[in-house]
Amino acid sequence: MLRIAQALDTQLREAMQRAFPEVDALLDPQLVPASKPEFGDFQANGALPLAKPLKQAPRQIAAAIVMALKADSAFTALCLEPQIAGPGFINLTIRPERLAAELATRLGDQRLGVPAVENAAPVVVDFSSPNIAKEMHVGHLRSTIIGDSLARVLEFRGHPVLRLNHVGDWGTQFGMLITHLKQVAPETLSTADAVDLGDLVAFYREAKKRFDDDEAFQVKSREEVVKLQGADPLTLKAWGLLCDQSRREFQKIYNRLDIRLSERGESFYNPLLPGVIEGLKDAELLITDDGAQCVFLQGVIGKDGKPLPVIVQKRDGGFNYATTDLAAIRYRFASIPDGDAARRVIYVTDAGQANHFAGVFQVAERAGWIPEGARLQHVPFGLVQGEDGKKLKTRSGDTVRLRDLLDESVERAEADLRRRLEEEGRQETESFIQLVAGTVGLAAVKYADLSQNRITNYQFSFDRMLALQGNTAPYLLYAVVRIAGIARKGGDLDVATAQLQFNEPQEWSLVRELLKFDAVIAEVEEELLPNRLCSYLFELSQVFNRFYDQIPVLKAQSDALSSRLALCRLTADTLKSGLGLLGIATLERM
Ligand code: ARG
Repeated sequence: MLRIAQALDTQLREAMQRAFPEVDALLDPQLVPASKPEFGDFQANGALPLAKPLKQAPRQIAAAIVMALKADSAFTALCLEPQIAGPGFINLTIRPERLAAELATRLGDQRLGVPAVENAAPVVVDFSSPNIAKEMHVGHLRSTIIGDSLARVLEFRGHPVLRLNHVGDWGTQFGMLITHLKQVAPETLSTADAVDLGDLVAFYREAKKRFDDDEAFQVKSREEVVKLQGADPLTLKAWGLLCDQSRREFQKIYNRLDIRLSERGESFYNPLLPGVIEGLKDAELLITDDGAQCVFLQGVIGKDGKPLPVIVQKRDGGFNYATTDLAAIRYRFASIPDGDAARRVIYVTDAGQANHFAGVFQVAERAGWIPEGARLQHVPFGLVQGEDGKKLKTRSGDTVRLRDLLDESVERAEADLRRRLEEEGRQETESFIQLVAGTVGLAAVKYADLSQNRITNYQFSFDRMLALQGNTAPYLLYAVVRIAGIARKGGDLDVATAQLQFNEPQEWSLVRELLKFDAVIAEVEEELLPNRLCSYLFELSQVFNRFYDQIPVLKAQSDALSSRLALCRLTADTLKSGLGLLGIATLERM
């Protein structure tokens, strides 16, 4: 209902101007969706703040605004008689015929009423971003699922989106890993495919241990880092092989989850790092502290009561994670061909990195590297916990591998399905069972993650996420299946130009719910909270199920029949589109 809300907002503003020209600069309709259905569709709270400047009772002001509104024929054609409530709220109800007309425009509209943005501008979504030679963990899974969904929403709105995988593919860890491998498994550094990621992770752990315990090993590792930085061919080759190895494993996960992502790892920014130091020097932000190059943060005080630094170059000349992120910021905002020309850059990582990003953003801001009107946003998320509320672990206490986690979800979905088929005495082919279990298993994992407010920690529970009832993927998928069932039973859902006519409250609830889709998408685009879309789709499914359980569809006649079929069709389209934006595929039968 974005379009209707916009029209209403203008009408209110103009009515307020006519009623109270003397306080023109203070006028704001404060139009919001009604807090309860019995209050209508919208509520305008703009009378209240005028009480003081006008020295009038807010209800009196509201009455004057309503009078002015009613003189506007465009308003009376859009709304029923406004109601003044409480201290001076104006409750507004859209005329049913206007709602039906709005709904009808969506029947032939692929975008389901969601306008494409007019000011489309490149957006970078930096997400997933695992580290080479380390296993992708559940934190990366969250980043991958949330980042993908945000990218989809931004794309749907019409922004060119750059999905960037900022993989950790550079740094001192390669020095110790390569040094260790040279000694214990040299073949891995010269032959492709000689190790799999699991082994690599084990080697990495051993190398780290040696690095911590053994000084000679430390020296060798540092030498190896220098060689890597100096582009020594053998070291570089070894590094390339290690990256390939990890990349292949990551790609398997991305393929399974249907994630598109362009890899642009930390190493990409290496040539730009000295420029960061130069730039900070030019901006007079750089301070040498104990041999390291730092920028001291404003308003961020450490335990010792002194401002905290962002260290951009270590005493040994090496650069940091923060230096790379500063280089990346400059590159992403710079115009093409030297950069991405982004207007908004979004980072999806765990909340533990909030300080890192706050620091880096502040430094970039003070250095003048953020163009006017451009936005840098950290999108933090909480931890994934087991049902015991502790960090998610396998029964043997190891960290959970993503592959195993996805496999288990699919296996459980398959077991559930087979049980259900048996109970219902249904016969289905093996390929049907595999398709349904695969879709439901992955949908459940994604949806469970996305439906939580990402800021809070979230408890991982297969039982909960695979349940057919509640705010779960199976519940939503089932609503889509129900509608497909109506078509199978002979309902023609292709009612393109139905004369829409609704009489039942359950129908009107569904109409109103369907019309909210555009506003929800705009909100997710702004707030970057996919759980808002999930809540909406859940609510829509519930309203639909109530409608479907209480109102006959296929037994209805003529106009009522086609109007109800139109509701079914739009519900299915909205659910499919919304789930699609969450990266979730739907089914016709399950
Ligand atoms: N590789 C990092 C990690 O695993 C995440 C990188 C996020 N992106 C960034 N531009 N810093 O925690």
